Amino acid sequence: MAEAHDREGGTQSFTLRLRRYDPESGNAPYWDEHKIELEPHRSVLEAVLQAKDRFDGSIGIRCSCRQAICGSCGVRVNGEPALACHTHLDAAKAGARDGVIEIEPMGNMPVIKDLIVDMDAVHWKKIQRVTPWLLAKQPVPEREYIVPKDAMVDVTQTMACIQCGACVSDCLAMEVDPGFIGPAALAKAYRFVGDPRDAEQYERLNDLAQDPQGIFDCTHCFKCVEACPKGVNPMGQIMRLRRIATGDHHIVDQNNGKRHEDALTTLVRDYGLNHEAELVPRSYGGNSWFGKFHPAAGKEMLASLPTAIKGLLRGKMTPAKILFGHKIPAQDLKAVQAIYDKVESRPERYELNLYIAGEDE
Ligand code: FES
Repeated sequence: MAEAHDREGGTQSFTLRLRRYDPESGNAPYWDEHKIELEPHRSVLEAVLQAKDRFDGSIGIRCSCRQAICGSCGVRVNGEPALACHTHLDAAKAGARDGVIEIEPMGNMPVIKDLIVDMDAVHWKKIQRVTPWLLAKQPVPEREYIVPKDAMVDVTQTMACIQCGACVSDCLAMEVDPGFIGPAALAKAYRFVGDPRDAEQYERLNDLAQDPQGIFDCTHCFKCVEACPKGVNPMGQIMRLRRIATGDHHIVDQNNGKRHEDALTTLVRDYGLNHEAELVPRSYGGNSWFGKFHPAAGKEMLASLPTAIKGLLRGKMTPAKILFGHKIPAQDLKAVQAIYDKVESRPERYELNLYIAGEDE
């Protein structure tokens, strides 16, 4: 029968498909379905709590404030990270593949039980990694530090983080390299790097740049930006850390992050698009056509040979593109170069965040 609709009370019936898993049981994870009755504007969290209350008290979910403040109820709804208490049932149903709302634990963290993940094992350990407190400039003023308003507005965006772990759950770089410090912790690092009262901006940045799993491990996939329920824009904060590290402090890291960025920037300016075959040699051998003759580049080029061959076989690369790069129409190339000219002629770098620009980057 079509879903019951209680017009009097305004409730509807919704089907939840919950991912259940108890590592201590020795049994494999499985899906569990429950039908619940609630008004469509009520939250996924309320629906799970109703299923727990009426059908199975052993369902595990973590929550506290129920109003998108404490960050406890992070889960995946229909495969996307979300706060269960901040996701309406009607919206969740509209996004469901077959009308059944699927709720799973967050990714990149071990499951403790059902929808509860071990935040200590991953998220909080990474937050601790970045020294998440102010190392105050000395001498500490007798009354208070006077801080420019713009500087505080800038760090306010990272202060909006409620530590729900949604960005960690969806971080693709962390999926490949679980040691990556990750979006939440690096956004936290920006909180102090961007604070004019902090005494160790250079030390923090140098540490995060030299760490092979630090700021240059981010692959710009934007997943954390989409996942964040508070508009913190963790990837944007990581890019700010990079810009201050390389642009202001001229930190050259052992991971070739700065050289790689320089090479990419130059190639896009010269060709209008990335020239893949030049990127690796320039990143390792020096940012010019001669980079490929540097011994350090040779080793990396050999290591990347299997990827290049795969690209050729799959038609993603052609011998002509490897040799000469991409060609875009002359007027397009001119337009790209005009952007470079405009940005590079500015006397100082603009750092606009959500609160200053009025919209997400
Ligand atoms: Fe606090 Fe959802 S219960 S954020």
